[in-house]
Amino acid sequence: MQFRISPSILSADLSNLGEEIRACEKAGADAIHIDVMDGVYVPNITFGPNIVATCKELTNLPLDVHLMIVEPEKHIAEFVAKGADIVTVHYETCPHIHRTLQQIRQSGAKAGLSLNPGTPVEPLALLEQDLDLVLIMSVNPGFGGQKFIPVSLEKIRQARQILDRAGSKADLQVDGGIDASTVLAAYEAGARNFVAGTAVFKHPKGISGGIQALKDVLNA
Ligand code: DX5
Ligand code: ZN
Repeated sequence: MQFRISPSILSADLSNLGEEIRACEKAGADAIHIDVMDGVYVPNITFGPNIVATCKELTNLPLDVHLMIVEPEKHIAEFVAKGADIVTVHYETCPHIHRTLQQIRQSGAKAGLSLNPGTPVEPLALLEQDLDLVLIMSVNPGFGGQKFIPVSLEKIRQARQILDRAGSKADLQVDGGIDASTVLAAYEAGARNFVAGTAVFKHPKGISGGIQALKDVLNA
C-alpha cells in the first residue's frame, strides 16, 4: 500500500530530540510534523520558527509545519526560511485563504490546508489548484493524545472525492488520534498521509515499534 507516516514531535522527548528524530528516520518515517500553536487560535502554546531550524539541522526528512495560529500569513516566510518544506494553515484562520495558499507556494514551500472537525469540505473544491496537501483534523486542534472523532472518516471520504474528481495530486493527510486501531479506517476512507504523535513517541515498544505498528496494520 502507498502511504506516508509523519510523526508529530509534539509528543517527542524534546530533551532528546536528535535521537528521537533519528529513530523516526530509521523506522522509515516520511516527514517530521511540527505543530505550531499560539495560545490564541488554540488553547496551547508550543513551538516557533527556531524549532524548525533545529529540526532542519537534525534531519533531511521533509519538515511538515502545521500552523495553528492566527494571522499565519505574517509568519509563513520565516517558517520557510527556517526550513519548512510544507506549510499547512487552517481554513478557519484565513479570511483570504486563496491568497495565503499562493503566498506559501511563492515562499518556496508546499501549501497545505487544514479543516477542523466542524468545518465542511466544500472550500476544497474551489481551492484544489492551489493545494499540495489537505489536512483533515480528526480531533479538535490543540493537544496530542486525544481520541479520534469517527465522523472525520466521512470528511476524509468527501475530501477524497473532491480531489479525485478534480484530478488533484494533493496529499490527503489526517491528524489526531491516529494509532493502530484507527489508521486503517482512515486509509480506507482515502487518507494517504498519517500524522501520529502519541502512537509513535509514547508507544510501549518505542518509536520504531510505534511506526512499525502503524505500517503493519496498513500493510496487512
Ligand atoms: C493536534 C496536533 C496533532 C497532534 C497529534 O492539534 O495537530 O498533530 O500532535 O497527536 P496525537 O497523534 O497524539 O493525536
Ligand atoms: Zn498537527
